[in-house]
Amino acid sequence: MENQLNLSLLPCPAMMATRINHGSTLNKFPPAALPEQPVGIGLRYPHYKDVLETELELGWLEVHPENYFGGGTHRHFLSEARKKYQVSLHGVGLSLGSTEPVSGAHLQNFKELIDIFQPFNVSDHASWSASGNAHLNDLLPLPYTHETLDALCRNITRTQEFLGRKILVENPSTYVAFAENDMTEYEFMNRAAEMTGCGLLLDINNIYVQAHNHGYDAWDYIGNINPHHVGEMHLAGHSEHNAAGKTILIDTHNHPVRGEVWGLYEFAVRRFGVIPTLIEWDQDFPTLETLVAEADKARAIIRNVAKERLLHAAE
Ligand SMILES: [Fe+2]
Repeated sequence: MENQLNLSLLPCPAMMATRINHGSTLNKFPPAALPEQPVGIGLRYPHYKDVLETELELGWLEVHPENYFGGGTHRHFLSEARKKYQVSLHGVGLSLGSTEPVSGAHLQNFKELIDIFQPFNVSDHASWSASGNAHLNDLLPLPYTHETLDALCRNITRTQEFLGRKILVENPSTYVAFAENDMTEYEFMNRAAEMTGCGLLLDINNIYVQAHNHGYDAWDYIGNINPHHVGEMHLAGHSEHNAAGKTILIDTHNHPVRGEVWGLYEFAVRRFGVIPTLIEWDQDFPTLETLVAEADKARAIIRNVAKERLLHAAE
């Protein structure tokens, strides 16, 4: 078990920064603490029953809070799951990259769930999905300009002030690049963290997919992210598609994590240390056993990197 290793050899200052205590009279669960085991899975409805009835070697569960705003059966299952596991709330609807302010009603719903479920991490994306009364079911890309950076930072700050805590912001998967870009995506993400104090949720598969589609080096991207900012990583499977004779990669979340992405993840663990890591799978759901096997692979990589560090430290 990895918590028997001296994981302090894999430093991560951002993990300490996410240990924030939240007092609330609405609390039903103990205040947030980082999970003892760093690897979790996304909790999705086909697995609700199995997650409750099976004893799993899992560190934590991540859910999209928007699926639980309405209470009812979904929230009941989440309450039962929270009795067994730590949770992370990963938003998909804040539209942090919009030029308009984040919705106060959305924030209020989000805060209600935080007060009840006491997540160790709260996150959303560096993208936009709302304009006026229109809400789009996608995470749309931003031009990486000073103007969009300012708009994103205004909404991150509004969100952090409303929720009373630091949030993590995830790098998106995108399929277009803008001629207006003033900076690279990794510069944009680093600056957002520096300007607002937010953390970064690095999706390793998104970086791999974009690097392929846009023609840059994924390892260089990770090498340029400030380790101090990183508080969580995501892993997922992608699909290959042929477009006019060219192979493009789509972030479909319906496959096991690809071998190249595992290699990139190992590089990221060496750079960022032991960070809570999530296996995401959102379509063509596999058995819970398959998901847990993916989590086991991530744990094995963390263990191996920690062992190498121990050996080097002993030399
Ligand atoms: Fe992700």
